[in-house]
This record gives sequence, structure tokens and C-alpha cells, in this order.
Amino acid sequence: MTDSARYTSVAVALHWAIAVLIVGNIAGGLFMHNLPNESSIKYDLYQLHKSFGLSILALTFARLGWRIGHKAPPLPAATPDWRRIGARAVHWAFYGLMLIIPLSGWAMVSVSPLDIPTYFFGVIPVPHLPFLGGVADRAGAEDLFAEVHEYLAFGLLGLLVLHVGAALKHHYADKDGVLRSMLVAGRREWTGLAGIFAALGLGAVVYAIAPMPGAAGAAGDAAAQGAGSASAGNGAGAPLWRVDDEASRLGFTGTQQGRAFDGSFGEFSADIRFDPDILDASRISVAVSPRSATTGDATRDSTIPGSEWFAVREHPTATFVSEDIRRTADGAYEARGVLTIKDYAKDIALGFTLDIDGEEAVAEGGVTLVRTDFGLGLDDSWLNAEGVGLEVRVDFRIEASRAP
Ligand code: HEM
Repeated sequence: MTDSARYTSVAVALHWAIAVLIVGNIAGGLFMHNLPNESSIKYDLYQLHKSFGLSILALTFARLGWRIGHKAPPLPAATPDWRRIGARAVHWAFYGLMLIIPLSGWAMVSVSPLDIPTYFFGVIPVPHLPFLGGVADRAGAEDLFAEVHEYLAFGLLGLLVLHVGAALKHHYADKDGVLRSMLVAGRREWTGLAGIFAALGLGAVVYAIAPMPGAAGAAGDAAAQGAGSASAGNGAGAPLWRVDDEASRLGFTGTQQGRAFDGSFGEFSADIRFDPDILDASRISVAVSPRSATTGDATRDSTIPGSEWFAVREHPTATFVSEDIRRTADGAYEARGVLTIKDYAKDIALGFTLDIDGEEAVAEGGVTLVRTDFGLGLDDSWLNAEGVGLEVRVDFRIEASRAP
């Protein structure tokens, strides 16, 4: 094949790098979207998805720039007009989607009321798109951009099927050199491709090892791990209790503008190993999804997961782990342990009463917390007299049965 019938080495390297990244980002996007909010890897996957997506955007600009300056090799002379037009339409639709999909993703995170920052591979802060700063209905705009992003990504997948089908037809049925004109043929294409992947791979490695802004501190990590691996380690000597989710409740009460309100967390799980006769081997670990908090007030409920309060995207789970349970009176106990909310880990003592009747048990108790100890609502607007009271009472009633 002559050089004029081939794409340039830069075009070939950019084509295959972008192709791999698009397939990866569609698969990664679907995977991360479907992970439960409690997943410990969800936040990292979102950051990586955004970093790879922005790389696709940058490479697409490079590719368009190169394409404008360098003509594509002509299709074989015998190609009918409808196929020429079809090929051209698919190629330009690709360029359009490769720009609009990452831009709609960027727009989505820019308007999101959760206000999650983006760090390109954990290192370079990426600002929100400036012209979207004045949007009034941020949640509505986020939904709209999310739909555009999702549907166009599926559209891109459809085009990919057409495009691959056409390339294979050229190769196997028509036996012309169209597919070969875009294949990696020489050292120059390999070097270009290897360079792009090495740079992005390095970015992913930096992301994996760099201390993340907003990542939980050592104490928080330890506590979270404790909650995650509650069935391992000590405590194995005490019986396991299974919590009846339907009958149990984790609630809270606070004040806003001087008026009391109450609410509850719809999603929490508790791993309880408890025996009143072997308290040394007893332990409790609780994982709560702050995103599931409801208070009966839509405005307040939409604020709770946001960056000013629980920042649930970075910190989907709050945990309490106690391995120090003491009897304080007949049927009354105190569990001392670490409560971790976001980056804030603090020792607390949770008082509770316990009534064990055969295989069934009911525990009731609570603790009063100072919300600012856990970085909740630190902005002046929340701290003044009109804001939210500093003390929040957390109460629970757990019904559990002894695991067989
Ligand atoms: C060509 C590049 C990209 C492709 C092919 C792509 C593809 C996808 C796909 C398939 C999903 C899952 C959709 C769903 O199931 O709801 C997704 C979700 C998402 N993408 Fe992208 N994406 C790209 C670039 C970006 C960029 C540059 C950003 C931000 C800077 C971004 C931000 C997001 C976010 C935040 C979600 C999650 C939406 C949700 O969970 O509701 N994406 N993406």
C-alpha cells in the first residue's frame, strides 16, 4: 500500500487510543453508575471516569486539528455514493459525539448541587464549566445533562457497531485496503500509541498512590475497615446477632432556626457480636449511609448529602466501631468506640439498654453529638442563630435475633 493510501501515523495512534478509551469509559461508566452508594471504590471510579473522559476530549481536539490539516486517504474508486456519504456521516457523527459526551459529563458535574471537585488523575484540579455557574435549578440541570450523557453514550455504542461492521466488510468481503489503511503498521504508530497509553497509565498510577484530597484519615480508614470486616478478628467468641431491618430504626433530632426537627437514616447495617457474660469478646460495628437520611422536608433532605454536610460522594458511609463494651447498670451498657463521619474520627460513648428474651433482643439508646466535631455544616450561614443547632441527638432502637 502506498503512503498516500494510508492514514498518517499520528492519525492511526490517536484513532486506536481514543477507540480503546471510549470502550473502557462506556463500560466503566455503566459499572460505576450501578455500584451501590456504600461502595468504597465508587468515588475513585468516578474520578477515574472523569479523568479518562477528559483525556478523550483532549485527544479528540488533537485529532480534529490533525484531521483538518491532513486529508484522509480516498475510499476505493468503486465505492458507491451512498456508502461514501454514509461513511462520512458516521465519521463526523463520531467527532460530534466524542466532543458532546465528555462536555455533557463535565456540565453534569459542574451544575451538580453536590459540588464534587474533579481532579485530573488526582493531581490537577479541573474547574467547573464557568458559564454554568448561574444555573438556578441545579438538580434539574444535572438530571438533564446526565440523560444527554447517558443516551449519547448509547448512541456512540450504536455507531461503533456500524463502524466496526463496515470496517470488517471492507476487509473480508470487499478485500480492499480500507481497514489496513488505519492499522498499526510501523514503529512510528506503535511509538505514538505506546506514548499515549504510557501517559494515561502513569496518570492512573499517580491517582492510585497519591493522597487524595478529601480521603479519610488514618483513623477513619481503620474504623471503616473495621466496619467492613466486622466478622473477622476478635469478637468471634460472642454470638452474632442479625438485625431486623424492618423493625429497627436509627433516628436523629436537631433544631433549625430554633425549631426542632427529627429524621432517620433509611439505610444502615450493624454487625453485632454480643454476650453479656463475655463482654471482652463482644463488639459492634455499624455502617450508615448518610445519603438515606430523611427529615420530611425536601429542601433540607436535598442539602444533607451535599458537600457542606455529609459530602456523600466522597464519603458514602459513616461508621461506628466499638470493641469496648461495659456494663453500667443491670441491663444497661456503654459502647465506647470511634465514630467516623467524612474525615473526622472521634471517640464517643454510646449508652444503651438491652433486653434479651431467648433468641430475640431489643437494644435502645443514643448519644448527643456536636455536629461541628464531624465537619457538618461549617459555613457561617449554618452556624449563626438562624442556622442549625450544634447539638444533634442520635437515637436507635435495634431489634435483632441470635444467628443460628
Ligand atoms: C467520551 C467520553 C465519555 C464516555 C464514552 C462516557 C460514558 C459514560 C457512560 C456510559 C456512563 C453511564 C451512564 C448511566 O448509566 O447513567 C457515564 C456516566 C457518567 N459520566 Fe461519563 N463518559 C465520558 C466522559 C465523561 C466526562 C469527561 C465526565 C466528567 C468530567 C463524565 C462524567 C460522568 C458522570 C458523573 C457519570 C455518572 C452519572 C450517574 O451516575 O448518574 N463522563 N459516562
